[in-house]
Amino acid sequence: MAKKLRVIGNWKMYKTAREATDYIEALIPQIEGSAITVCLAVPFTSIASAAQYAQGSGILIGAQNMNDAREGAFTGEIAGLMLKEAGASFVLLGHSERRHIFGETDSLIHKKVLRALQDDIEPVLCVGEKISERKDIEAVLQEQLQSALKGVPPEEAKKLIIAYEPVWAIGSGKTPTAQDIEKAHLSIRSILVQDFGKTIGSKIPILYGGSVKPDNAAEIVAQKEVAGLLVGGASLEAETLASIIHNMSAKKAGPTKRKTK
Ligand code: PGA
Repeated sequence: MAKKLRVIGNWKMYKTAREATDYIEALIPQIEGSAITVCLAVPFTSIASAAQYAQGSGILIGAQNMNDAREGAFTGEIAGLMLKEAGASFVLLGHSERRHIFGETDSLIHKKVLRALQDDIEPVLCVGEKISERKDIEAVLQEQLQSALKGVPPEEAKKLIIAYEPVWAIGSGKTPTAQDIEKAHLSIRSILVQDFGKTIGSKIPILYGGSVKPDNAAEIVAQKEVAGLLVGGASLEAETLASIIHNMSAKKAGPTKRKTK
């Protein structure tokens, strides 16, 4: 069975609500008929309008972070239920910028994963090694995954998505080789199977992220364990994300060229 591919654009702290809707308007006609599931992780202030504009297009809107509490006196924070009501269907958790710039620990990420599942918002758990940890990738992935997913019942694990993002590849223009990506994905797969059993563990989608561009997308998604891509910088222009999406599909259907207007 051909795998169902997914792409998530991670806009980070870019785009106002107006820019978000202009982008979605531009993106929709460019991806019409695509078999790829297209998701956009947008800033909080754009979720409601982006979700409204995306209605009926198949594009899914999500958030880039949330608090681990249901609600409470946490000035400046945002709850999963608020995101959900605004139109977010998923949330990125444990992104390396959250871990390394904002000091999020494995234990906090674990609480956020549990909360997202309770609030019925799909967690996209990001994991990946720093450059200094290249020799211990497996151990690093094991530690990050097992601490974040501790206590998640297999039934709930069905809602998870994992994104493998080597920290050194994010925004750097550098990527691991396709073989190294597959190897890391296989390590993640075996941890998921070990924790959730074969039936569920073998179905959780594992995406790759870190300096994905139109010209490396096809080779990366050609790897057996790669179920899609998490794209930062290259998702900021609708045209570039559309090229990535076309190149991802080209991989399965043979080398088709993207239509130019
Ligand atoms: P990048 O970012 O594509 O700009 O490397 C990926 C990410 O941070 O999710």
